[in-house]
Amino acid sequence: MAQQLGDWARTHTCGALRPTDVGSSALLLGWVQRVRDLGALVFVDVRDRFGLTQIVFRDSPDLVVAAKRLRTEYVIGVKGTVQPRSAETVNAKLPTGGVEVVAAELRVLNEAKTTPFEIREDAAVSDDVRLRYRYLDLRRPGLQANMVLRHKVALAVRKYFDSQGFLEIETPILAKSTPEGARDYLVPSRVHPGEFYALPQSPQLFKQLLMIAGMDRYVQIVKCFRDEDLRADRQPEFTQVDVEMSFATPQQVFDLVEPLMQDVFAVVGRDVARPFRQMPYGEALARYGSDKPDLRCGMEIADLSTLFQGSSFSLFAEAVGAGARVRGFVVPGGARYSRRELDELAEQVKAGGAPALIWARRTKDGGIQSSALKAAGEETIARALETAGAGEGDLLLMTSGAGDDASKALGQVRLTVARKEGLLKPDEFAFTWVVGFPLLEWDEGEKRFMSVHHPFTSPVAEDLGRLDAEPASVRAQAYDLVLNGSEIAGGSIRIHDSDLQRRIFQLLNISEEEARHRFGFFLEALQYGTPPHGGIALGLDRMVAILAGENSIREVIAFPKTAAAVDLMTGAPSTVDDRQLDDLHVAVRPAKSGPAGATS
Ligand code: AMO
Repeated sequence: MAQQLGDWARTHTCGALRPTDVGSSALLLGWVQRVRDLGALVFVDVRDRFGLTQIVFRDSPDLVVAAKRLRTEYVIGVKGTVQPRSAETVNAKLPTGGVEVVAAELRVLNEAKTTPFEIREDAAVSDDVRLRYRYLDLRRPGLQANMVLRHKVALAVRKYFDSQGFLEIETPILAKSTPEGARDYLVPSRVHPGEFYALPQSPQLFKQLLMIAGMDRYVQIVKCFRDEDLRADRQPEFTQVDVEMSFATPQQVFDLVEPLMQDVFAVVGRDVARPFRQMPYGEALARYGSDKPDLRCGMEIADLSTLFQGSSFSLFAEAVGAGARVRGFVVPGGARYSRRELDELAEQVKAGGAPALIWARRTKDGGIQSSALKAAGEETIARALETAGAGEGDLLLMTSGAGDDASKALGQVRLTVARKEGLLKPDEFAFTWVVGFPLLEWDEGEKRFMSVHHPFTSPVAEDLGRLDAEPASVRAQAYDLVLNGSEIAGGSIRIHDSDLQRRIFQLLNISEEEARHRFGFFLEALQYGTPPHGGIALGLDRMVAILAGENSIREVIAFPKTAAAVDLMTGAPSTVDDRQLDDLHVAVRPAKSGPAGATS
């Protein structure tokens, strides 16, 4: 039977007591971590989010009996006296490990069923069980530390923006669709049959409207909602640090965000050097095979096309003849890779759409080996090794493809090799801005141009003349912030001219009528004295996950969803009563197929 808390108020958390407290009385409240029954003596570890304290039950037989009945995860209160632990029982690993509390009174505030897994950091438990019992998972020290870190980062963000004169302004959640490239989550209106709110994919239009409203500098830590394919770094609802500034240039945005990163990394005691590198999009693709280059591992991709032009190696010679490129990168020390390891890398290149992975290496005795030695000849291979900078014991990996296809395929292999060689150190932080993105990209499926960022992104002024004749060549005033191969922020200078905004909608094949229906309010607002403006949004979950050294953003979100967008704890999404559907004027059609995606 649970006892009442009554007037018991804790004097210390379970992580607070130190040898300087010896002799004082203490009242602790927390969960039972462990009970060790030594007969006349019972040790109980009591835990809260601040730590763990050892309690000794020994003086009164009644207390000892009561302590023996305790089970893990019972909620208890203990009054007692702090005493030093004997030299041989001091636990140097625990901040409270020099002391223990000798119990004088015990209250069992609540019992607990046997938990589906032990509340220990190293308990082996599947992801599904963790998510089903997230409130228990959150009792574990690792997740608790992540929640504390997230709080501290959010606090550092707010302090920083306040110091820079930004106002935090809330924007609506029941809103109108804003395109950010994903599907919308829709909310049916009860009072307007057949009409829907959209949950914001981002507050993009609202923050631009706040600039029109003269708010000058806006920030918001805000939930965004996107119905898209989920991955380790994507959740259907996630948090942005959303920022907008009037009269901004890209450099001003960089000069705002870089010191923010310094403040955020100071939370984990890390220095960040600035200014950050600025890398053109084309260079990122060519040299790293990705617009999110991971700069922790070197291994830049080089263009080797001229070497193979007209060579006897027909695979590459014909590719170059047809205007494709041959590209390669060097794996330092990779000459030791076995045939099987090389085959695995070759498979990855093929899966990436490239025709074949060609390898070449210099052995320790200076000899040359290559999968194309016979076809290409020793001289060509030797020149390729030299041009790429492969020394003794190194491995050169090459492939061909049109445009940046070879780099993209090699970019994947580069990351695999970097992981294999342990080059992607979680405590090393490599930032880069990626700039000069194209404004538009051709979508073969839809047979129309799509925005690379979003339709409100301003073209680079000197490219404007090409907007009609060569839209694909127009660059955007957009930038992404990439950290360790992860896109942690994206933003741009915006279009502030309503005519240009209309032209962009036309290029995107959005008809006048559709533009008016979806964005009429915004096109109208642009006409009332819109200042030039720009901004950025940072992915808070991704940032905190990197700071915490976690591979998935789930580990820094209290109640995340699975890859199938399910909350395994509450069971959302779920069916609702017919009455609720009637109220909302919604009729459900049977699904054509089952839910997409995996279970976790
Ligand atoms: P963007 O779509 O690039 O830009 O989003 C900004 C940042 O938000 C994070 N992010 C996500 N994090 C977790 N789960 C997701 N599903 C997810 N989607 C995005 C990323 C990304 O860099 N309105 C613009 C910003 C602007 O132009 O100012 C926007 O939303 O870290």
